[in-house]
Amino acid sequence: MEAVQIADGIYWVGVLDWNARNFHGFKTPRGTSYNAYLILDEKITLIDCVKLPFLAEMMARIASVIDPKDIDLIVSNHAEGDHAGGLPMTQHLTGAEIVTSKKGVDALRLNYGTMKMREVKDGEELSIGKRTLRFIETPMLHWPESMFTYAVEDQVLFSMDAFGQHFCSSERFDDQVDMCVVMEEVSTYYANILMPFGNQVKKTYEKIKELPIKIVATSHGILWRSHIQDIIGTYLRWAGGETEERAVVIYDTMWGSTEKMAEAITEGIRSQGVPVTLLRLTVTERSTVMREVLRSRVVVIGSCTMNNGMFPTVADITTYMKGLRPKGRKAAVFGSYGWSGGAVKAIKENLEGAGLEFPYPDLEIKFSPMKDGVEKSHAFGVDIAKSIKT
Ligand code: FEO
Repeated sequence: MEAVQIADGIYWVGVLDWNARNFHGFKTPRGTSYNAYLILDEKITLIDCVKLPFLAEMMARIASVIDPKDIDLIVSNHAEGDHAGGLPMTQHLTGAEIVTSKKGVDALRLNYGTMKMREVKDGEELSIGKRTLRFIETPMLHWPESMFTYAVEDQVLFSMDAFGQHFCSSERFDDQVDMCVVMEEVSTYYANILMPFGNQVKKTYEKIKELPIKIVATSHGILWRSHIQDIIGTYLRWAGGETEERAVVIYDTMWGSTEKMAEAITEGIRSQGVPVTLLRLTVTERSTVMREVLRSRVVVIGSCTMNNGMFPTVADITTYMKGLRPKGRKAAVFGSYGWSGGAVKAIKENLEGAGLEFPYPDLEIKFSPMKDGVEKSHAFGVDIAKSIKT
């Protein structure tokens, strides 16, 4: 296990979790990494840590450069377990003092017990020798205690979860990998973790926009050095609620009636030249749904009625969606029912507070859509497409 030098005297000493397939309840098909960094200076400093089961790998990478006992300081930018889980043992092995935000001190103490910690304030600078570290509080990216650390002389921004991706790679930088793949994982990450925090993304941008940055050293996935303005610009567009002129139709079905409606709606949208994605929830993982929601101007949600309510998969995704608050998007609801309805009403109730607007009339069809029902569904899609284009 070797460290990877990313700048003069700064090393990546993180770990690769090739087999991670679930994070925060969503799938991570390309694995992930937990990135930690070692800065060699008068005070040898470790930036962040790793998930506890991977601690030996991080220590081995550190040991390829220095004796881990020589570490003086550990900066904890984020107290969540994927970065801080290994902190208590790392402190035990090195004796290093932990440097973190005020809320970080609280979170670490409550999660891991008493440790030797030093609190730093927003904007505070700390000299570690030839270098200066500046701490920038970034509340809610991804937790209230989170912060960035900026290595002033090296112009390296340690950005913790922000700009990261669940993407495991033997390469470390953006210009060494397929950007289409990386951007897909960036959007999945943003949609499933950071989407509720657009305002905080904008506030963070105000704090970093004047900084010269050579490397954005994330806590997950690849580091940015060649597409820094692209990734920051993409975050700002998402934070501002910018969407594409497109729709996503998500649904589930018991006996195929709601599916027939979904297909006709999709065809109606497509017939107007508006791109649309059709996703059946039984076979589509929720992180993929949210990635499509992130870019779509209209979210169309359908469910058959089951036990006077919605299908369980639709209850799952609408509950998940509500928490991620995809505000500013329009939504339309549809579904077939048998002896009594209930799914459409339940979907709208479940999405109350999600920040979606419902400007379209609901579309409900009793039993299976015959020719008339298919035509109604198609027209429903046409109307949605027209509203997207105007
Ligand atoms: Fe990568 Fe919010 O932890």
